Amino acid sequence: MRRKIVVGNWKMNGRIDTIIPLLTTICQTVDSARAECMVMPPSIYLPLVSDYLHSATVKWGAQNVYPHAMGPYTGELSGPMLKEYGCKYVLVGHSERRALFSESEKIIAEKFHHVKEHGMTPIFCIGETKEQRDQGLTNQVLISQLESVSAGRADVFDHCLIAYEPVWAIGTGEPASPEQVQSAHQLIRSFIAKLNQDTAQAILIIYGGSVTNKNAKDLFSMPDIDGGLVGGASLNAQHFVEIIQCIS
Ligand code: PGA
Repeated sequence: MRRKIVVGNWKMNGRIDTIIPLLTTICQTVDSARAECMVMPPSIYLPLVSDYLHSATVKWGAQNVYPHAMGPYTGELSGPMLKEYGCKYVLVGHSERRALFSESEKIIAEKFHHVKEHGMTPIFCIGETKEQRDQGLTNQVLISQLESVSAGRADVFDHCLIAYEPVWAIGTGEPASPEQVQSAHQLIRSFIAKLNQDTAQAILIIYGGSVTNKNAKDLFSMPDIDGGLVGGASLNAQHFVEIIQCIS
């Protein structure tokens, strides 16, 4: 039985005086909820968030990593540095990193494996653009993104979460329908099942793209949707808590 999870991707948002009240509300609520919950703050706030959450059940992770342990990479953070602060989860392959920071499949795969090599869990984001969906290429795109990290190896998907995030649904207020998401998640799970059945049954596949307190219940009730990766709505404590409560 997979334990569902709601992950709040704060992106480049938040200030010290908004983060503490947000975390306080989440902690008060999630302890009694059945779902797991995680927040992903901007890197500069990771020590603050990890200190605040150290005895809480709310998990936290990083939004990015650079795939070298150390060296002349101005502005970047490595896996060992994140690990030193107790980080366990790192987002990899988010469409904003792909589009705005020109991250290639190659660098994304390097980041994915770097996270795993340092004992952390990647939350691997994949998803098609509007044009690709309109051209009927969704399945092809998802499979090629999965192949870019797996190279035929099943163990790659142990200790890993997958976030299906259609690019056209992110930050647009137009989520994919529960049926569209279920169909993509089924495809992802069956891709992994061909490598290893047990891994496919165990892996959490979450959905991201305009998830709100209004649509989360319908999305989370689908059999292969194991929770959500929530951007905008994760910055509003009340809405985020309501989304977590949509997990039954
Ligand atoms: P959104 O972002 O919920 O604001 O659409 C989701 C994401 O980018 O992870």
